[in-house]
Amino acid sequence: MKIIHSISELRAWRKTVGEVAFVPTMGNLHEGHISLIKVAKELAPHTVVSIFVNRLQFGQGEDFDRYPRTLESDAAIIAANGGVDVIFAPDEKELYPNVIQQYQVNPPAIAEELCGAFRPGHFRGVATVVTKLFNIVQADVACFGKKDYQQLAVIQGMVADLNVPIRIVPVDTGRAQDGLALSSRNGFLTAEQRAEAPRLFFHLSRMKTAIEQGERDYSRLAQETVADLRARGWLDIDYVETRNALTLKPAASTDRQLVILIAARIGTTRLIDNLEVNL
Ligand code: PAF
Repeated sequence: MKIIHSISELRAWRKTVGEVAFVPTMGNLHEGHISLIKVAKELAPHTVVSIFVNRLQFGQGEDFDRYPRTLESDAAIIAANGGVDVIFAPDEKELYPNVIQQYQVNPPAIAEELCGAFRPGHFRGVATVVTKLFNIVQADVACFGKKDYQQLAVIQGMVADLNVPIRIVPVDTGRAQDGLALSSRNGFLTAEQRAEAPRLFFHLSRMKTAIEQGERDYSRLAQETVADLRARGWLDIDYVETRNALTLKPAASTDRQLVILIAARIGTTRLIDNLEVNL
């Protein structure tokens, strides 16, 4: 397994191999990433994992500085799970040689809703770095987790609209036994917060069951969730929304493919999760 830091070395390696599957990450790998890598390895004979904490997608006051940089242990985790061909781990100067990234990829208005409403510019930062990584790695297929459902939708839209020659494969959310979606941010939770955090999945499941049983008053379902989380001491509840799973627009009562999305802060840690509903 090679660890490559420079774009030129990565490009030189790329010329020597056939089909490549790609998993972009910001490192601090957990079981969720491992399942993305496992899926990727089944999709192509060669696999690249990138590890880069992308300043451009963090807003002011977000956790860019405290985001764990754990390349050595990430490489060990990947190796312990059978390895990949290449870990691409550029530093900031390599990926952003211009102090200000002058050309960026601007996603459409849907990227300003849900998480985008609370993290202005976030998806522009994601779309920009993913475009750069796609251009560098030149993979045939890339895996993205459904945990970041809006990110997945933004990337799928970008690839379709800009004719990027890559296939995007969505991968199901990995969960702890109590339902908590696996996330690098779970590591910030105290023991007490960790015990409370699966409440998000509890409500997603409760709402899903209600919808499957015929409930169509999505805003009432959301209000019940918000009231319960507030009563249990959750701080900012950014959103609880039922949306059309394909367009991410607010769900109509006739829509059959839905996704319930939630984002809320417990202590200082913002957690997101979602659950699809197919009627
Ligand atoms: O999901 C992530 O870890 C990041 O948003 C990504 C796709 C690696 C871009 O920095």
